[in-house]
Amino acid sequence: ATLAPFVDALPRPPVHRPAAGDTLRIRMARSTHTLHRDLPPTELWTYDGHYPGPTIEAHTGVPFDVVWENALPTTHFLPVDHAICGAEKDKPQVRAIVHLHGAKVPHTDDGYPEDWYVPGKARRHHYPNAQDAATLWYHDHAMGINRLNMYAGLMGLYLLRDAHELSLGLPSGDFELPLVLADRLLHADGRLYYPDSGDAKAPWVPEVFGNLTLVNGAILPRADVQARRYRLRVLNAANGRFYHLRFRDGRPFQVIGSDQGLLAAPATVRSVFVAPGERVDLVVDFAAARGMAVELMNDALPLMRFAVGAGQVRDDSRVPATLREVPRLTEASASKTRELTLDEYSDCIATPMLMLLNGKRWHDPVTETVKLGSTEMWNLVNLTEDTHPIHLHLVRFQVLDRRPYAVDEYMEKKTLRYVGPAQVPPPHERGWKDVVQAYPGMVTRIVATFDGYPGRYAWHCHLAEHEANEMMRPFEVVA
Ligand code: C2O
Repeated sequence: ATLAPFVDALPRPPVHRPAAGDTLRIRMARSTHTLHRDLPPTELWTYDGHYPGPTIEAHTGVPFDVVWENALPTTHFLPVDHAICGAEKDKPQVRAIVHLHGAKVPHTDDGYPEDWYVPGKARRHHYPNAQDAATLWYHDHAMGINRLNMYAGLMGLYLLRDAHELSLGLPSGDFELPLVLADRLLHADGRLYYPDSGDAKAPWVPEVFGNLTLVNGAILPRADVQARRYRLRVLNAANGRFYHLRFRDGRPFQVIGSDQGLLAAPATVRSVFVAPGERVDLVVDFAAARGMAVELMNDALPLMRFAVGAGQVRDDSRVPATLREVPRLTEASASKTRELTLDEYSDCIATPMLMLLNGKRWHDPVTETVKLGSTEMWNLVNLTEDTHPIHLHLVRFQVLDRRPYAVDEYMEKKTLRYVGPAQVPPPHERGWKDVVQAYPGMVTRIVATFDGYPGRYAWHCHLAEHEANEMMRPFEVVA
């Protein structure tokens, strides 16, 4: 049966605003949720009983701690694959570790996949908030099972603000809405369904796509809005689905920021393609839509409705033509270039499919050893037939360009021959990023300065099922 659309109000997660030196305590536990008026309650694993978890609002220069307490059950309700690296039979079934995605933090506070702990334990993370305003988010990162923990609901937003951004006059308060998108499959009784391969010994599947999208935890919700500008902080928190966002009436909107904060200038578009892990910060103006319904779509499928009030309202917000300075990094700014392949093997005997970064597994010795403070260019040579959203912990980077190359020749001889001109990213991708869509048949070049802290961090494909099956590697920043 199809669910009646737009009957539930868009939920807004509760907000924490810690002061300098505060310690916030957030507890991971099982909780039940009504995802739609007409559905029985669904068991989720959440932070503090909320899906998405409480939004943490931080301010640049205001450090605080969060104690993340693991109060989850000791057995998993989704299919753990013991053949997967890090989830072997000798490991506890339920483990958790929180990664603050996009944050510049010491490696011990980052949520390194092997820093997991079991129910009954807690871990204190220090967040220095010494970086520009950005739409960050937190989610589970426990080795071998974070795809299940995230699917179960362990994620939330972390909005970092700074004085510059606050001075711009962007829509704020009630006029700034977080939109956390994630698709799910549900059993008829409302239980979460996570697909498996059919092999009980190796249930891992390479991709998970749901037939329902939760927007802040609700299916096809409705937001009652005023006829004015709104700032939408969109996060694609899906395990595997890319969203092609647009409004049903084709109205243009302004992208003002991406993963790591504001762009140099707003980019006016009619649609935007968002990969798992990516964030889009956008402003839409409903002033001309008084009394109308405006639907946010993923291609041809509605995700939610904005029901615009009939009254005329005063709107003092603005979107300045210049948002901030974003110095454009160039090839010449990098002191080192690495050629790194994205690989997929399907002829493997151990697993039906295996995806790797640079032909290496997680446990192979570290190959990306980077000097603290140095700038590097990483050329991501995608040998597979899919787009992979590649995420680096710790750093922000810029996308230099994407360029088609002869894939078969590279596979045979390991020589890189370009077969077309380099394509610079569109304006909305020219800001600071921490996830990049590496297209098939292309070399995607990114440039990052590795400042912050020495230590071991992770880089990986943000398709959660790929990441789980070896498409994740450590990198080491050395002083
Ligand atoms: Cu959003 Cu390593 O992850």
